[in-house]
Amino acid sequence: MEDKKAVYAGSFDPITKGHIDIMKRSAQIFEKVIVGVLDNKNKKNWFSADERLEMIKILLKDLKNVEVQTFDGLLVTFMEKNNAKILIRGLRAVSDYEYELQMALTNSSLSGNKIETIFLTASRENLYLSSSIVKEIAINEGDIKEFVYENHINIIKERARLIKGGNFNEKNSNC
Ligand code: PNS
Repeated sequence: MEDKKAVYAGSFDPITKGHIDIMKRSAQIFEKVIVGVLDNKNKKNWFSADERLEMIKILLKDLKNVEVQTFDGLLVTFMEKNNAKILIRGLRAVSDYEYELQMALTNSSLSGNKIETIFLTASRENLYLSSSIVKEIAINEGDIKEFVYENHINIIKERARLIKGGNFNEKNSNC
């Protein structure tokens, strides 16, 4: 029964069209998908975990079997709490592979081989899309509309403006 439930975890700082594509496709495969947003106080994020959660929620209105939660600590603990054994990760270019393999093996080991990681390949149009690229473009005042949803363009642009102006401390973004 647990195998009908999956967790799709990430930083989502910010959520991109690539992430949503993986969420939609996962929702067609599993009965329930829990999106886990990492609340890592030590990592420099543009958006707090709650902001990221809200940004994702807005886009999930039509995906009734997908819910979103924040988590801190180990992903395996979050998955255990949610009684989930399948972890979904999106795989883009070859450059993702080594990190993803390390994470999949570590999570398997930490969970006593209970957790399986399933990779969904990124769609062609999202192959080279990442949150970092979106932030890079935004900070340089480029056009991000191809990469993120309409609802988020202004909040990302505004955050980029604050960061560029030195008026926002990325370290505090999770507080
Ligand atoms: O979108 P990201 O940043 O590539 O997602 C990485 C994430 C959040 C899935 C990963 O960093 C994570 O699971 N962190 C929680 C801490 C943990 O469990 N680490 C051990 C697994 S390597």
